Amino acid sequence: MSKVTIVEVGPRDGLQNEKVTLDRQTRLEFVEQLAGAGVRTIELGAFVSPQWVPQMAGSAELVKEALSRREGAGSPLRGVDLSALVPNPRGMQDALDTGIKHVAIFASASESFAKKNINCTIEESFVRFRKVMEMARANDVKVRGYLSMCFGCPFEGNVPEGQVVRLVKRLAELGVYEISIGDTIGIANPAQVRRLVAKLVDAVGPERLAMHFHDTRGTALANILASLEQGIRVFDSSLGGLGGCPYAPAATGNVATEDVVYMLHGMGFKTGIDLEKLLPINKWMTEKIQHELPSRVGRAGLPKILPL
Ligand code: HMG
Ligand code: MG
Repeated sequence: MSKVTIVEVGPRDGLQNEKVTLDRQTRLEFVEQLAGAGVRTIELGAFVSPQWVPQMAGSAELVKEALSRREGAGSPLRGVDLSALVPNPRGMQDALDTGIKHVAIFASASESFAKKNINCTIEESFVRFRKVMEMARANDVKVRGYLSMCFGCPFEGNVPEGQVVRLVKRLAELGVYEISIGDTIGIANPAQVRRLVAKLVDAVGPERLAMHFHDTRGTALANILASLEQGIRVFDSSLGGLGGCPYAPAATGNVATEDVVYMLHGMGFKTGIDLEKLLPINKWMTEKIQHELPSRVGRAGLPKILPL
């Protein structure tokens, strides 16, 4: 049976856009609970400016503590791949100082969002990424790449497919092991996904690609299905559908991990995640951030009769 990797981005993409800023211990507890439910890849923080994204302040201490706990016998974090966002060489140095061995750089397919999100042009961002990659190679750190606004931009409208393909190739050439294709504002539909992903698969192969759908307009699961049909086997999601992007207006949370896992398991895919253990984390998080989370499975619970 086919295996699918879920990259849990709730502790980063989710929490970065919540009104309530959680303290380090609560963030750490969140990460440990996710690991305890069988999540094997977790993005837990961001080495970005605390002036820009206060919710991610303290990520260095969080990462250090998580890495140290991971060494402990019996820790739920044992064997879990922990990563964090890095926008520039300064952020990379902060990341290296914690000892983390997995980071993600983030580029934009639209100029306006590059400016709004990381305060530079696309070209300037690639100059920074080249330096980050050099630092990563020298320190044996693996680097993932994100590309945002691949299906449309709130500032520029349509983003040409050719531009997305070109930038995905550039990220691949930089040496990132995987490129996560962002529908940052949850605007994509399955026909569009099928068309773009086919071109990206031609350009870099399905094994270099992951999909990152925000579920702003309810199309994320349909878009995941369209991506599965194109051979994609890595998807980003957030527990409960937490979050959004602070610099993309109207971007709501990522597709909910519970909803993705429910659909995939029902279809016969394996994720290694125990759905029954995810649901209590949803309830716990609801109390911490003081509002209900959008996940459909989180709200409805598991059906008594599982579909055949
Ligand atoms: P800047 O203000 O242009 O930076 O910010 P600067 O180089 O001009 O430096 C200004 C000050 O910031 C200096 O300090 C630097 O040291 C400091 P001062 O000398 O004034 O005391 N600085 C930093 N501090 C901490 N960490 C750093 C860092 N770099 C410089 N890394 C910067 C540029 C990139 C830092 C800023 O724009 C930033 O932090 N942006 C954050 C963007 C962000 O986190 N966005 C959300 C994540 S992306 C996302 O959600 C999309 C994604 O999910 C995919 C999708 O959905 O499509 C990944
Ligand atoms: Mg995102």
